Amino acid sequence: MSGMRSLPLLLAFALVGCAEVGTAEPPTPRQASATPTLAITSPTAGETLPLLADAPRTLSISFDVTDFTLREPGTCLASEAPCGHVVVHVDGDACNADGADFNAAGAGSPVGAALLHCPESAGAHTFTLTLANDDRTPWTGADGAGVTASVAATTEVPSLYERLGGPDSIRGFVSAALGLHVLPDNRINAYFHNGDLDLSFIVDCLADQLGEAAGGTEEYACRSMLEAHAGLGISPTDFANFVADVEEAGLYGGVGPADVAEVVAILESTEADIVEDPGGDNSLYQRLGRRPGIEAVVDQFADALLADLSLSPFFVPDGGTGPVYNARTGLCITRLICAIDGPCDYGEGTEPELEGTPCLSMRDSHVGRTDPEGNAIALAHFGRLADLLVQELDAAGVPPLDQELVVGALIPTCCDIVGDNTECQALFDSVGVDLTCDGG
Ligand code: HEM
Ligand code: HEM
Repeated sequence: MSGMRSLPLLLAFALVGCAEVGTAEPPTPRQASATPTLAITSPTAGETLPLLADAPRTLSISFDVTDFTLREPGTCLASEAPCGHVVVHVDGDACNADGADFNAAGAGSPVGAALLHCPESAGAHTFTLTLANDDRTPWTGADGAGVTASVAATTEVPSLYERLGGPDSIRGFVSAALGLHVLPDNRINAYFHNGDLDLSFIVDCLADQLGEAAGGTEEYACRSMLEAHAGLGISPTDFANFVADVEEAGLYGGVGPADVAEVVAILESTEADIVEDPGGDNSLYQRLGRRPGIEAVVDQFADALLADLSLSPFFVPDGGTGPVYNARTGLCITRLICAIDGPCDYGEGTEPELEGTPCLSMRDSHVGRTDPEGNAIALAHFGRLADLLVQELDAAGVPPLDQELVVGALIPTCCDIVGDNTECQALFDSVGVDLTCDGG
C-alpha cells in the first residue's frame, strides 16, 4: 500500500522542490529526487564474526542509509516519504523462520539477523538488506528499482559454555534443576530426599561436568558416573524423568531450546553408566511403580485403616492430644516400603512435610501406644493392619510374590510395635521365620 502511496508523494515532493528553486525559502529537508542509498558497514566482506550467545544466534548487521526515513513498520507519516524499514535476508530465504518470507527487520542500525533457522548457523553466509516500505513491500524508486546491499561473511557459533552464560549461570541452572525440579518431582525424588545426600556437592559436581562438556575450563574431579550411581538401581524411566526435569529447568530459566537440547544430549550420553535396571523391574521399588505407586497404595491403605473398627481408635484424636494419621504418617509408611530395596533411607528423610524431624523408628513410634480405652497394640492389630496393606497391594494389581516381599519385610517390625513380644515370637514361629524379639 505505501509502495503505491509513495510515487505520488515523491512527485509532490519533486513539484515542491521545483517550485522552490531560486526562491528565498529554506530548502526542503531532503532532496526529493535523491535516490536512497543503503550500505552495510559490518560485517565487511570476507570477515569472520562470532554470533551472539543468545537463543536466536544473532549477528548484528550495521548499515548506513541516506535519503530514506527509517521508522518501525506501520509508523511512517506521509510527510516522511520515502520512509520504511530495512528487511534482512540471510542466504536468500534459507534462514527464515517457519512461515516467514524474511529473516529479520529493523528501523535502525544495527539490525539483528537470526541464524538459528539456517541449516548451519556457523559458516559462510550472504546477508542482504533491502529497503522496504512501511508495509514491508520492497521500496522502489521512480525507475522501479529497489535498494539492496549484500555482503558475504563467515559466522562462528559461540561455545555452548558461552551460550549458557559461563560458570555462574551454569551453576544457577544446575542448582535450579535439582532444587526446583528434581527435588519436588515425586517420580524420582526418593533418590534425593535422604539426609546423607549432599545436594550442593552434587550441584557443584554436575556444574563442573556440564561446564567441561560445554567447552569451559572446568575440570570434573568428582566420581565417575559409574561409581557415583552404582547400587542405586536407576531405571531408564528414572533417567528420562531426571533429564526431563533438567530440560524443564532450562526452558523455564530462559535457556534457548537449541541450547537445552545440547545439554540434554550431554546428559543422555551418560545413560549407559547410570542406568542399572534396564527393564525397570529389578527391585520391588521399581515394580511397585516407584514413589507414586507406593504412595497410591498407602493412600488407599490409610482410608481402609481409618475405616477399620479395631485399628481406627488408635489413630483417632484423643481429646485433641492423641495421635492422628496424617500426611507425615503416610509419608513415613511410604518411605518404609520404599526403603525395602529402593532408594529411601527410612529414618533419613528430608521431605519438607517432615518439618526437620525424620521418621521415627518403629519402636519410638509405637511404644506405649494405646487406644482411648487403654488397650495396647496387640498381635491381632498388627495382623489386621498387615491384612489391610495386602488388600490394597492386591487391589493395585501388585502380584502375590511382591505382596509377600512387602509383608515379609514388615513382619520383623512386630517386636517393636506389638506391646507383648511373646505374641510376635509366636507369630514368627507359626509362619516359620527365623526371628527372635530381642526384648524391650
Ligand atoms: C542424567 C545424567 C546424570 C548425571 C550427569 C549425573 C551426575 C551426577 C554427579 C556428577 C554426581 C556426583 C558425583 C559424586 O558424588 O562424586 C551424581 C550423584 C548422584 N546422582 Fe546423578 N546424574 C545423572 C542422573 C541421575 C539420575 C537419573 C539419578 C536418580 C534418579 C541420579 C541420582 C544421583 C544420586 C542419588 C547421587 C548421589 C550418590 C551418592 O552420593 O552416593 N543421578 N550424579
Ligand atoms: C506393619 C505394621 C506397622 C507399620 C509398618 C507401622 C508404621 C508406622 C509408621 C511409619 C509410623 C509413622 C512414624 C513417624 O511419624 O515418625 C507409624 C505411626 C503410628 N502407628 Fe504404626 N505401624 C504399624 C503397625 C501399627 C499398629 C498395629 C498400630 C495400632 C493398632 C499402629 C499405630 C500407630 C500410631 C497410633 C502411630 C502414630 C500416628 C501419628 O501420629 O503419625 N501402627 N506407624
